[in-house]
Amino acid sequence: MTTIRFIREGIDVQCKPGENLRDLVIKEKLQLYGLKGILGNCGGAGQCSTCFVSVEGGPKNSLSPLTPVEEEKLKNRPENWRLACQTLINSSSIILTKPQSPPPNLELLKESAENKKLPR
Ligand code: FES
Repeated sequence: MTTIRFIREGIDVQCKPGENLRDLVIKEKLQLYGLKGILGNCGGAGQCSTCFVSVEGGPKNSLSPLTPVEEEKLKNRPENWRLACQTLINSSSIILTKPQSPPPNLELLKESAENKKLPR
């Protein structure tokens, strides 16, 4: 088992390596989508660019490499952003959902998340 730490929600979620990040977020009933994605998303097909997450910590290879779809869709986005539907979990990682609308206390949340030991 591995752990995904969701810093906006303040929770750690256990999952199996190889699990899809979007599937995990939905299974845990966390909010992945902003308004645009709530109104209409592609269901994980890599077409709508509404399932953004940012990777805020964890080992470099904790998630699968960028897919060709992500390389196209994330061209003008920060380097640590991913499309959750295209991302497979390799090992423990720290994730921010909806990085396009960061919480006002983001720096505090990041610091708190980084200070707690992340299980492998
Ligand atoms: S759900 Fe549409 S791109 Fe990820």
